[in-house]
Amino acid sequence: MKTRKPMVAGNWKMNKGLYATRDLLRELVPALSDVEGVDVVVCPPFVGLGVANRELGSSSIKLGAQNLHWEESGAFTGEISPSMVKDLCDFVIIGHSERRAMFGETDESVNKKVHAALKVGLSPIVCVGETLEENKSGQTGEVVSRQVREGLAGVEPEQAVKLIIAYEPVWAIGTGLAATPEGANAVHRDVIRPILGELFGDKIGNGMRILYGGSVKADNAKELFDQSDIDGGLIGGASLKVDSFVSIVQAA
Ligand code: PGA
Repeated sequence: MKTRKPMVAGNWKMNKGLYATRDLLRELVPALSDVEGVDVVVCPPFVGLGVANRELGSSSIKLGAQNLHWEESGAFTGEISPSMVKDLCDFVIIGHSERRAMFGETDESVNKKVHAALKVGLSPIVCVGETLEENKSGQTGEVVSRQVREGLAGVEPEQAVKLIIAYEPVWAIGTGLAATPEGANAVHRDVIRPILGELFGDKIGNGMRILYGGSVKADNAKELFDQSDIDGGLIGGASLKVDSFVSIVQAA
């Protein structure tokens, strides 16, 4: 029996503007109104967060952003600060592999963002995962360990309870080729969980949720979520359609 409450978070990426966000949530909120026992989070683009916050109203679905800057205010053209995110959201995705690959994010910037998010009371969803090359050359454990250790450096155990890790092998994102349930679980159970225990103590480490992301669909979600250390999913493409997202939430 798993004691951790499962979580399903939708990462909409750069899809759905203000009106499309409103329309999708007007379908999603009633479709998920009787779901219990799962924390559901949606992460639209920044411009949709205001309308999403209003549409979600008293629904149990929580709101997340896809990024933030670590500074509180100032001359950072184009950036959004932690407290601006916190005005609208409870969660924030940090260090997604697309941000690492295309926008120069590093373990160091991830760490700054994690601290900045925690400071204002946001729950960071910290993404880690190896590339295809790293996977093929047997470096998965090493890469994921480094990303977890450096990304979470300096976080105190009492802050860690708010943290969520998402293991997203880069080769599985948007490819339709998910990791096998056993393969993903091995990374969660044997690589990430022991580091969380080491950093924060076994009690807190065992209570922290580790999501899997990368081509999670309605038809493979249950098998993945049934694994001992897969505590839900971070869903990209399949979170943009009501039917598939609802099925994935139900699988959790
Ligand atoms: P995908 O994306 O579900 O479309 O593979 C997952 C993610 O990038 O978070």
